[in-house]
Amino acid sequence: MQLSTKHLLGIKDLPAVDISLILSTAAQFKEVLQRPIKKVPSLRDLTVVNLFYENSTRTRISFELAEKRLSADTINFAASGSSVSKGETLLDTVNNILSMKVDMVVMRHSASGAPHFLARHLPETAIINAGDGINEHPTQALLDAFSIKEKLGSLEGKKVVLIGDIMHSRVALSNIYLLKKMGAEVMLAGPPTLIPIHVKAALDVEVAYDLKKALQWCDVANVLRIQLERQNQVLFSSLREYNLAYGVSRKLLDSIGKEIVIMHPGPINRGVEIDSDVADGRDSIILQQVENGVAVRMAVLYLLSGRKGDS
Ligand code: NCD
Repeated sequence: MQLSTKHLLGIKDLPAVDISLILSTAAQFKEVLQRPIKKVPSLRDLTVVNLFYENSTRTRISFELAEKRLSADTINFAASGSSVSKGETLLDTVNNILSMKVDMVVMRHSASGAPHFLARHLPETAIINAGDGINEHPTQALLDAFSIKEKLGSLEGKKVVLIGDIMHSRVALSNIYLLKKMGAEVMLAGPPTLIPIHVKAALDVEVAYDLKKALQWCDVANVLRIQLERQNQVLFSSLREYNLAYGVSRKLLDSIGKEIVIMHPGPINRGVEIDSDVADGRDSIILQQVENGVAVRMAVLYLLSGRKGDS
Protein backbone atom coordinates (compact mmCIF):
# COMPACT_ATOMS: atom_id res chain seq x y z
CA MET A 1 0.00 0.00 0.00
CA GLN A 2 1.08 3.57 -0.71
CA LEU A 3 0.19 6.84 0.97
CA SER A 4 -2.26 8.96 -1.01
CA THR A 5 -0.10 12.04 -0.47
CA LYS A 6 3.34 13.21 -1.59
CA HIS A 7 3.94 15.42 1.48
CA LEU A 8 2.95 15.25 5.15
CA LEU A 9 1.74 18.80 5.79
CA GLY A 10 -0.93 18.10 8.38
CA ILE A 11 -3.56 15.65 9.59
CA LYS A 12 -6.47 17.81 8.38
CA ASP A 13 -6.39 16.42 4.82
CA LEU A 14 -4.84 13.04 5.60
CA PRO A 15 -7.29 10.18 5.03
CA ALA A 16 -7.85 7.61 7.80
CA VAL A 17 -6.37 4.85 5.60
CA ASP A 18 -3.11 6.80 5.38
CA ILE A 19 -3.08 7.23 9.18
CA SER A 20 -3.62 3.48 9.63
CA LEU A 21 -0.84 2.69 7.15
CA ILE A 22 1.62 4.99 8.96
CA LEU A 23 0.71 3.46 12.34
CA SER A 24 1.05 -0.14 11.14
CA THR A 25 4.36 0.62 9.38
CA ALA A 26 5.57 2.30 12.59
CA ALA A 27 4.78 -0.89 14.52
CA GLN A 28 7.13 -2.79 12.20
CA PHE A 29 9.86 -0.21 12.65
CA LYS A 30 9.38 -0.32 16.41
CA GLU A 31 10.26 -4.02 16.24
CA VAL A 32 13.40 -3.16 14.27
CA LEU A 33 14.36 -0.68 17.00
CA GLN A 34 14.27 -3.43 19.65
CA ARG A 35 16.96 -5.43 17.80
CA PRO A 36 20.68 -5.19 18.63
CA ILE A 37 21.27 -3.81 15.11
CA LYS A 38 18.71 -1.05 14.77
CA LYS A 39 19.57 0.05 11.26
CA VAL A 40 17.84 -0.89 8.00
CA PRO A 41 18.96 0.08 4.47
CA SER A 42 15.56 1.42 3.34
CA LEU A 43 16.66 5.02 2.59
CA ARG A 44 20.27 4.34 1.59
CA ASP A 45 21.55 6.98 -0.88
CA LEU A 46 18.69 9.37 -0.09
CA THR A 47 19.52 12.68 1.57
CA VAL A 48 17.19 14.41 4.01
CA VAL A 49 17.54 17.96 5.28
CA ASN A 50 16.16 18.90 8.69
CA LEU A 51 15.33 22.58 8.43
CA PHE A 52 14.62 23.95 11.89
CA TYR A 53 13.64 27.60 11.96
CA GLU A 54 12.39 27.26 15.53
CA ASN A 55 13.74 25.66 18.72
CA SER A 56 13.35 21.93 19.15
CA THR A 57 14.88 19.13 21.19
CA ARG A 58 12.77 15.97 20.83
CA THR A 59 11.41 16.47 17.34
CA ARG A 60 14.75 17.38 15.75
CA ILE A 61 16.67 14.55 17.41
CA SER A 62 13.84 12.12 16.69
CA PHE A 63 13.78 12.93 12.97
CA GLU A 64 17.57 12.76 12.73
CA LEU A 65 17.65 9.42 14.51
CA ALA A 66 14.84 8.08 12.33
CA GLU A 67 16.77 9.10 9.20
CA LYS A 68 19.98 7.49 10.49
CA ARG A 69 18.17 4.27 11.43
CA LEU A 70 16.90 4.15 7.83
CA SER A 71 20.48 4.70 6.49
CA ALA A 72 19.65 8.07 4.90
CA ASP A 73 22.27 10.80 4.72
CA THR A 74 21.14 13.72 6.85
CA ILE A 75 22.01 17.38 7.06
CA ASN A 76 20.83 19.71 9.77
CA PHE A 77 20.00 23.34 9.29
CA ALA A 78 19.28 25.71 12.15
CA ALA A 79 18.08 29.18 11.19
CA SER A 80 20.31 30.80 13.81
CA GLY A 81 23.82 30.94 12.40
CA SER A 82 22.56 30.62 8.79
CA SER A 83 22.18 33.12 5.96
CA VAL A 84 18.57 33.73 7.03
CA SER A 85 19.98 36.57 9.16
CA LYS A 86 21.48 38.01 5.91
CA GLY A 87 18.00 38.37 4.40
CA GLU A 88 17.66 35.19 2.34
CA THR A 89 14.08 34.06 1.73
CA LEU A 90 12.77 30.63 2.78
CA LEU A 91 12.34 29.57 -0.84
CA ASP A 92 15.85 30.67 -1.83
CA THR A 93 17.36 28.84 1.13
CA VAL A 94 15.51 25.64 0.28
CA ASN A 95 16.24 25.85 -3.46
CA ASN A 96 19.93 26.26 -2.70
CA ILE A 97 19.89 23.22 -0.42
CA LEU A 98 17.95 21.16 -2.98
CA SER A 99 20.42 22.05 -5.75
CA MET A 100 22.96 20.05 -3.74
CA LYS A 101 20.82 16.97 -4.51
CA VAL A 102 18.77 16.72 -1.34
CA ASP A 103 15.73 14.46 -1.68
CA MET A 104 13.42 15.20 1.26
CA VAL A 105 12.76 18.18 3.52
CA VAL A 106 11.69 18.06 7.16
CA MET A 107 10.75 21.53 8.33
CA ARG A 108 9.78 23.32 11.53
CA HIS A 109 8.84 26.97 11.18
CA SER A 110 7.21 29.58 13.39
CA ALA A 111 4.95 30.73 10.53
CA SER A 112 1.74 28.71 10.17
CA GLY A 113 1.53 27.44 6.58
CA ALA A 114 5.29 27.60 5.83
CA PRO A 115 5.53 23.92 4.77
CA HIS A 116 2.36 24.29 2.64
CA PHE A 117 4.01 27.23 0.88
CA LEU A 118 7.11 25.14 0.19
CA ALA A 119 5.05 22.21 -1.07
CA ARG A 120 3.26 24.53 -3.54
CA HIS A 121 6.58 25.73 -4.94
CA LEU A 122 8.39 22.39 -4.79
CA PRO A 123 5.72 19.82 -5.67
CA GLU A 124 8.28 17.12 -6.54
CA THR A 125 10.15 17.16 -3.20
CA ALA A 126 8.59 15.38 -0.24
CA ILE A 127 8.01 17.96 2.51
CA ILE A 128 7.34 16.85 6.08
CA ASN A 129 5.90 19.34 8.55
CA ALA A 130 7.69 19.12 11.92
CA GLY A 131 5.47 21.86 13.40
CA ASP A 132 4.26 25.08 11.75
CA GLY A 133 3.39 27.98 14.03
CA ILE A 134 0.08 27.41 15.78
CA ASN A 135 -1.26 25.24 12.95
CA GLU A 136 -0.24 21.56 12.94
CA HIS A 137 2.36 19.09 14.18
CA PRO A 138 1.32 15.93 12.35
CA THR A 139 4.09 13.54 13.44
CA GLN A 140 3.38 14.44 17.09
CA ALA A 141 -0.29 13.48 16.67
CA LEU A 142 0.74 10.26 14.92
CA LEU A 143 3.13 9.29 17.71
CA ASP A 144 0.50 10.20 20.30
CA ALA A 145 -2.01 7.96 18.52
CA PHE A 146 0.55 5.14 18.25
CA SER A 147 1.23 5.43 21.99
CA ILE A 148 -2.49 5.37 22.90
CA LYS A 149 -3.02 2.30 20.69
CA GLU A 150 -0.03 0.58 22.24
CA LYS A 151 -1.33 1.26 25.75
CA LEU A 152 -5.09 0.75 25.28
CA GLY A 153 -5.29 -1.50 22.20
CA SER A 154 -7.20 0.86 19.93
CA LEU A 155 -8.27 4.44 19.34
CA GLU A 156 -11.90 3.70 18.47
CA GLY A 157 -14.25 4.85 21.24
CA LYS A 158 -11.45 6.05 23.53
CA LYS A 159 -12.07 9.29 25.41
CA VAL A 160 -9.17 11.70 25.17
CA VAL A 161 -8.97 15.08 26.88
CA LEU A 162 -6.46 17.69 25.72
CA ILE A 163 -5.68 20.04 28.60
CA GLY A 164 -4.43 23.60 28.63
CA ASP A 165 -3.33 26.05 25.97
CA ILE A 166 -5.46 24.79 23.08
CA MET A 167 -5.42 28.18 21.35
CA HIS A 168 -1.66 28.24 20.69
CA SER A 169 -1.03 24.51 20.39
CA ARG A 170 -0.31 22.85 17.04
CA VAL A 171 -0.17 19.55 18.94
CA ALA A 172 -3.80 20.04 19.98
CA LEU A 173 -5.09 20.75 16.48
CA SER A 174 -3.31 17.78 14.89
CA ASN A 175 -4.49 15.53 17.74
CA ILE A 176 -8.10 16.68 17.36
CA TYR A 177 -8.13 15.96 13.61
CA LEU A 178 -6.46 12.58 14.04
CA LEU A 179 -8.45 11.32 17.00
CA LYS A 180 -11.78 12.27 15.39
CA LYS A 181 -10.83 10.55 12.11
CA MET A 182 -9.90 7.37 14.00
CA GLY A 183 -13.14 7.21 16.00
CA ALA A 184 -12.00 8.54 19.38
CA GLU A 185 -13.98 11.07 21.42
CA VAL A 186 -12.24 14.36 22.15
CA MET A 187 -12.73 16.89 24.93
CA LEU A 188 -10.78 20.12 25.42
CA ALA A 189 -10.23 21.39 28.96
CA GLY A 190 -8.69 24.61 30.20
CA PRO A 191 -9.47 28.23 30.99
CA PRO A 192 -11.97 29.89 28.60
CA THR A 193 -9.26 32.37 27.52
CA LEU A 194 -7.12 29.53 26.12
CA ILE A 195 -9.89 27.68 24.22
CA PRO A 196 -11.12 29.33 20.98
CA ILE A 197 -14.86 29.93 21.32
CA HIS A 198 -15.98 28.36 18.03
CA VAL A 199 -13.88 25.22 18.40
CA LYS A 200 -16.74 23.11 19.73
CA ALA A 201 -18.94 23.60 16.67
CA ALA A 202 -16.10 23.83 14.14
CA LEU A 203 -14.33 20.65 15.17
CA ASP A 204 -17.13 18.69 16.85
CA VAL A 205 -15.42 18.32 20.24
CA GLU A 206 -16.59 18.70 23.83
CA VAL A 207 -15.31 21.60 25.94
CA ALA A 208 -14.94 21.65 29.74
CA TYR A 209 -13.72 24.47 31.93
CA ASP A 210 -13.64 22.22 35.01
CA LEU A 211 -10.56 20.01 34.99
CA LYS A 212 -11.92 17.50 37.48
CA LYS A 213 -15.02 16.86 35.37
CA ALA A 214 -12.87 16.41 32.26
CA LEU A 215 -10.62 13.92 34.05
CA GLN A 216 -13.62 11.99 35.37
CA TRP A 217 -14.80 11.59 31.76
CA CYS A 218 -11.56 10.55 30.04
CA ASP A 219 -9.41 7.46 29.48
CA VAL A 220 -6.41 9.52 28.38
CA ALA A 221 -5.24 13.00 29.42
CA ASN A 222 -2.82 14.74 27.07
CA VAL A 223 -1.41 17.72 28.98
CA LEU A 224 -0.09 20.72 27.04
CA ARG A 225 2.50 23.35 27.88
CA ILE A 226 1.41 26.98 28.18
CA GLN A 227 2.94 28.46 25.01
CA LEU A 228 4.02 31.72 26.66
CA GLU A 229 6.25 32.56 23.68
CA ARG A 230 3.14 32.77 21.48
CA GLN A 231 1.00 34.85 23.83
CA ASN A 232 1.12 38.60 23.43
CA GLN A 233 -1.59 39.36 25.95
CA VAL A 234 -2.40 38.31 29.48
CA LEU A 235 -4.69 35.28 29.26
CA PHE A 236 -4.52 34.14 32.91
CA SER A 237 -3.36 35.85 36.07
CA SER A 238 -0.22 33.87 36.94
CA LEU A 239 1.41 30.48 36.41
CA ARG A 240 0.78 29.76 40.10
CA GLU A 241 -2.94 30.38 39.65
CA TYR A 242 -2.99 28.35 36.42
CA ASN A 243 -1.41 25.46 38.32
CA LEU A 244 -4.04 25.66 41.06
CA ALA A 245 -6.96 25.55 38.61
CA TYR A 246 -5.61 23.47 35.71
CA GLY A 247 -2.41 21.75 36.85
CA VAL A 248 -2.67 17.96 36.84
CA SER A 249 -1.69 16.89 40.36
CA ARG A 250 -1.48 13.52 42.10
CA LYS A 251 -4.05 14.69 44.65
CA LEU A 252 -6.55 15.50 41.91
CA LEU A 253 -5.99 12.17 40.14
CA ASP A 254 -6.31 10.26 43.43
CA SER A 255 -9.61 12.04 44.15
CA ILE A 256 -10.98 10.63 40.89
CA GLY A 257 -9.85 7.11 41.67
CA LYS A 258 -9.64 5.65 38.16
CA GLU A 259 -6.74 4.88 35.90
CA ILE A 260 -6.02 7.65 33.40
CA VAL A 261 -3.21 7.43 30.88
CA ILE A 262 -1.08 10.59 31.23
CA MET A 263 0.59 12.06 28.15
CA HIS A 264 2.56 15.22 27.36
CA PRO A 265 4.31 16.18 24.10
CA GLY A 266 7.14 17.89 26.00
CA PRO A 267 8.84 20.10 26.95
CA ILE A 268 7.27 19.81 30.41
CA ASN A 269 6.99 22.77 32.72
CA ARG A 270 6.96 20.91 36.03
CA GLY A 271 4.74 22.49 38.63
CA VAL A 272 2.78 24.47 36.03
CA GLU A 273 0.61 22.23 33.82
CA ILE A 274 1.75 18.98 35.41
CA ASP A 275 3.27 18.05 38.76
CA SER A 276 6.40 15.92 38.94
CA ASP A 277 4.75 12.99 40.70
CA VAL A 278 2.25 12.76 37.81
CA ALA A 279 4.79 13.26 35.01
CA ASP A 280 7.06 10.61 36.52
CA GLY A 281 4.24 8.49 37.96
CA ARG A 282 2.87 5.06 37.17
CA ASP A 283 0.25 6.17 34.66
CA SER A 284 2.56 8.41 32.64
CA ILE A 285 3.62 7.27 29.15
CA ILE A 286 5.54 10.47 28.39
CA LEU A 287 8.86 8.75 27.70
CA GLN A 288 7.16 5.98 25.67
CA GLN A 289 5.76 8.77 23.46
CA VAL A 290 9.31 9.98 22.84
CA GLU A 291 10.50 6.44 22.13
CA ASN A 292 7.63 5.82 19.71
CA GLY A 293 8.37 9.10 17.91
CA VAL A 294 11.40 7.56 16.21
CA ALA A 295 9.46 4.58 14.81
CA VAL A 296 6.60 6.81 13.67
CA ARG A 297 8.97 9.21 11.89
CA MET A 298 10.78 6.27 10.28
CA ALA A 299 7.40 5.15 8.91
CA VAL A 300 6.56 8.62 7.55
CA LEU A 301 9.98 9.07 5.91
CA TYR A 302 9.91 5.58 4.42
CA LEU A 303 6.37 5.84 3.05
CA LEU A 304 7.02 9.28 1.52
CA SER A 305 10.41 8.38 0.09
CA GLY A 306 9.01 6.43 -2.83
CA ARG A 307 11.32 3.60 -1.79
CA LYS A 308 8.50 1.32 -0.72
CA GLY A 309 9.02 -2.10 -2.25
CA ASP A 310 12.64 -1.34 -3.28
CA SER A 311 14.34 -2.94 -0.32
C1 NCD B 1 5.63 20.76 21.00
C2 NCD B 1 5.83 21.73 19.86
O1 NCD B 1 6.94 22.18 19.59
O2 NCD B 1 4.83 22.00 19.24
N1 NCD B 1 6.72 19.99 21.36
C3 NCD B 1 7.11 18.93 20.58
O3 NCD B 1 7.30 19.03 19.40
N2 NCD B 1 7.26 17.76 21.21
C4 NCD B 1 4.89 21.35 22.13
C5 NCD B 1 5.45 22.51 22.89
O4 NCD B 1 6.36 23.21 22.46
O5 NCD B 1 4.89 22.77 23.97
